[in-house]
Amino acid sequence: MAQSEQLEGAGEGEDEKGVTKAKVKNSGDAEAPSPTGNTNQAAQATNKLALYDRLGGQAGISNLVADFTKRALDDPRVNWNRQGVSRGGFSLRKSKSETWNPTPENVAQLQKHMVEFLALATGGPPEYSGKPIEAAHADMHISNPEFDAAVGDLKASLDRLKIPNKEQKELLAIVESTRPQIVTKR
Ligand code: HEM
Repeated sequence: MAQSEQLEGAGEGEDEKGVTKAKVKNSGDAEAPSPTGNTNQAAQATNKLALYDRLGGQAGISNLVADFTKRALDDPRVNWNRQGVSRGGFSLRKSKSETWNPTPENVAQLQKHMVEFLALATGGPPEYSGKPIEAAHADMHISNPEFDAAVGDLKASLDRLKIPNKEQKELLAIVESTRPQIVTKR
């Protein structure tokens, strides 16, 4: 499956902006790295490493996801397990909403898929094995303030791990591009 299709789930839509951005940058000038797709010496020499590599590759992204998920799962503003969204939801009575339990297995699975997702989106290996992002969040009634809070937690993790500003901006733009697929409640 094409990288963009994996991210989109169905290959439709317009939210590839953030995803392609890093790639376009990588190949956008005459001194672009070799077309092998590997980030390599030439890439390093021209400072054109994929965002994936500049975030520290697999290890860097795993660290980031570990810090972020812990923060977001503990953040009542995000309400990750959707507690109370199905029960007593004044405006949501008709639609059912799944409660998600942060069991060790569920958290491990979430982290694995999030690492794969971010790797794919930042120019790393295209090995995302989770659900399409829209389907994964369907029926959760996630609101803009909840999404904003999750982004705030990600920013806090990026700061804590001392990720440079340029890389922070690029990653946050990618995450922002998923908002229309995740937020279903105003
Ligand atoms: C308010 C914000 C968010 C909430 C409450 C939320 C909630 C959830 C929950 C409960 C799951 C587990 C679904 C399941 O296992 O069936 C999930 C999965 C996932 N979320 Fe989110 N999410 C939010 C934002 C984000 C963002 C910003 C991203 C990344 C850009 C993201 C990426 C993912 C991925 C990759 C999965 C794994 C899908 C799978 O296992 O198939 N989520 N999310």
